[in-house]
Amino acid sequence: MSIRAAILGPTGYTGYWLIELLLRHPGAKVTYLASAREELPNIAAEFPALMGRCELACKPIDAEAIAHDADVAFLCLPHKAAMAYVPGLLDAGLRVVDLSADYRLADAELYETTYHTPHEDRANLEHAVYGLPELTDRQRIAEADLIANPGCYPTAAALGIAPLLQRSLVSSENIVINAASGVSGAGRSAKPHLHFPELVDSYFAYGCGDHRHQPEIEQTLSAVKGGDVEVLFVPHLLPIERGILETIYLDPLDEDVTEDDLFEAFEDAYGDETFVRVRSEMPNVKHVRGTNFCDITVRLTPRGKVVVFAAEDNMIKGASGQAVQNMNIMFAQEETAGLL
Ligand SMILES: NC(=O)c1ccc[n+]([C@@H]2O[C@H](COP(=O)([O-])OP(=O)(O)OC[C@H]3O[C@@H](n4cnc5c(N)ncnc54)[C@H](OP(=O)(O)O)[C@@H]3O)[C@@H](O)[C@H]2O)c1
Repeated sequence: MSIRAAILGPTGYTGYWLIELLLRHPGAKVTYLASAREELPNIAAEFPALMGRCELACKPIDAEAIAHDADVAFLCLPHKAAMAYVPGLLDAGLRVVDLSADYRLADAELYETTYHTPHEDRANLEHAVYGLPELTDRQRIAEADLIANPGCYPTAAALGIAPLLQRSLVSSENIVINAASGVSGAGRSAKPHLHFPELVDSYFAYGCGDHRHQPEIEQTLSAVKGGDVEVLFVPHLLPIERGILETIYLDPLDEDVTEDDLFEAFEDAYGDETFVRVRSEMPNVKHVRGTNFCDITVRLTPRGKVVVFAAEDNMIKGASGQAVQNMNIMFAQEETAGLL
């Protein structure tokens, strides 16, 4: 039987990409589009690519009605808005995949200082499972009723660093992540600095060392290492629609480490993983566009610096694709269903 999926926030970018992915999924279908707009949107008018392909009418966000029509609810909403709905959806018996940041940081105080807002659902935060399938125990994802779907930048950073820390090939100090994202990472609502004339031909950094994804990256890497890991995360805005490239600088733990050792660590970690491709060539955002892949390579420079390069599509492996991957695990489907 098909998994019945509800999408809260279908008029945003991650909501739209979930519709696209689920339309192609052999074992799941969208059965409820939930919007908070007073005048309910017509989804094919919002996204004309859906004309003739998705005729579902949007309905209000009503937990009981959603639970009647769906098995799983994807929340494609801003942080803070998501945690206002999650308790009701869980109480109504739904399983939930939250694409916002509301359940990603296990420490509620850290969430509050990072997102400058009180955490209003600490009870559910306690049992939320951070769903990065290549690094999280899949059994926990399979059994979870609430998945915190990882952030876009944190996904590539964690996948690019974890195997090297796990095998003690690099130091857990002085890790620098230089990242660039296409503009869709900022969501669909209009913002003056994302206006086309402001953006075209521009390229700039923001959130240097205090971006809200930095604690999320540190949380994952600290769990992998079994001790505190700090990073410096510096994001940039790329004037392209989609795609993330991260260049990550690390120090080898000792001078005997070779480039072969580094590649071997990635091959060991991801050899059986469909969605992480360890490549000898440089990853490129164009090579992962529209896919659930994260492409990774590594170099050891002549002066002994380890440099990892990781590319992904922020809206697919960085959001909606990973959400479907998590859903597949939760409902015992092929993990790759709808994603290749
Ligand atoms: N974009 C990415 O690459 C990406 C990657 C990873 C994670 N995320 C996270 O995923 C979530 C969604 O991101 P997005 O890029 O899809 O955002 P978006 O394009 O701005 O869409 C947000 C959606 O949420 C709805 N919404 C806003 N406030 C709401 C409220 N108070 N109650 C109910 N619905 C509300 C919007 O409806 P209206 O259209 O009616 O305003 C819209 O459908 C965010 O938490 C974001 O941080 C995004």
